[in-house]
Amino acid sequence: MELLTCCVLLALGCLLYFVVQFVRLMKADADLTLLWAESFGSSPESKLRGSVVWVTGASSGIGEELCYQLVKLGASVVLSARREAELLRVKKKCLEISSLEEKDLLVIPLDLTDLSTHKSATDKVIQHFGRIDILVNNGGRSQRSLFVDTDLNVFQGLMELNYIGTVSITKHVLPHMIERKKGKIVTISSITGLVGVPLSTGYAASKHALQGFFNSLRIELGTYPDIAVINICPGPVQSKVVENACTERFEKSVEAHTDQTYKMPTDRCVRLILVSAANDLKEVWISDQPYLIIYYICQYAPTWGFWILQRSGQKRIQNFKSGIDADSSFAFSKKTS
Ligand SMILES: NC(=O)c1ccc[n+]([C@@H]2O[C@H](COP(=O)([O-])OP(=O)(O)OC[C@H]3O[C@@H](n4cnc5c(N)ncnc54)[C@H](OP(=O)(O)O)[C@@H]3O)[C@@H](O)[C@H]2O)c1
Repeated sequence: MELLTCCVLLALGCLLYFVVQFVRLMKADADLTLLWAESFGSSPESKLRGSVVWVTGASSGIGEELCYQLVKLGASVVLSARREAELLRVKKKCLEISSLEEKDLLVIPLDLTDLSTHKSATDKVIQHFGRIDILVNNGGRSQRSLFVDTDLNVFQGLMELNYIGTVSITKHVLPHMIERKKGKIVTISSITGLVGVPLSTGYAASKHALQGFFNSLRIELGTYPDIAVINICPGPVQSKVVENACTERFEKSVEAHTDQTYKMPTDRCVRLILVSAANDLKEVWISDQPYLIIYYICQYAPTWGFWILQRSGQKRIQNFKSGIDADSSFAFSKKTS
């Protein structure tokens, strides 16, 4: 009888645990490990203050917001992207919202696809600050086009920008981190680096490549426990990513300005990126529902995951063909920070 009572209590305990985890998951906007770190782990305020952080893609969207939140934390920031005027605009705002001085912010215009410039850019950062504590590989471009309609050079261009460009900057920065036995490499991958997404075959391939590269590099760096390799996988986030996405041709961007308000606010995504960096989390998923639950299903029940992706993917393609943002099929409400 006592054994039976124990078993019933144990079963109830397990059931309660799963119910609690399920409720947490349904309310979550990131994987549960990241949310645990946000509540109980190290805060960005305590870990990142005073760091020297190099952000690529700092002229817009996630990279721009990263600069603002970093300077508020008291980090020195190197801002890189192609458009110098936009970088100067971001720098000006950084100075306005923080107590940093001119010398704490360095603008280095940089094209990720122009590999020949990456060494001199890295040298300039080291010369100015003497070190790089954190590299944020953020610059990149997405894609909105069906494979059958798309020029081959789109696939080449996306690999050169999102993958080779990122590997190249990392190749120049890592030796400095190895020398100091310390540093963090934060890469803004994507959920499309984990699962397949229609209309983004080339983009998904470039982000899958990043995942494979950094997951392997992390193991190679096992003898440097204080060099962290952190892969960030966001779902849809408010930014210019759709507007700037390439189409059937690499040079041609999406023409329509689509409503982004139902996506995760940029500042929430960036706060979670900083929590991930402060806690050296290896891979994080940052996304609202219903995407997040779909990623969990894909990870733990891939056969069901493939079925769901197939169904939702058709809706995405229909949206695209009728000229609305492909992701709006999943929109529930507008989101503001
Ligand atoms: N927003 C999302 O839903 C989402 C989801 C998952 C992952 N991501 C990833 O998040 C990262 C940031 O994107 P975002 O959403 O913030 O989009 P965004 O607003 O379009 O910003 C993209 C940034 O990348 C820079 N960039 C583009 N081509 C470049 C090049 N050849 N060389 C150097 N920089 C270049 C752009 O600056 P310039 O044009 O001035 O060069 C811009 O600063 C990307 O890697 C993207 O794949 C975004």
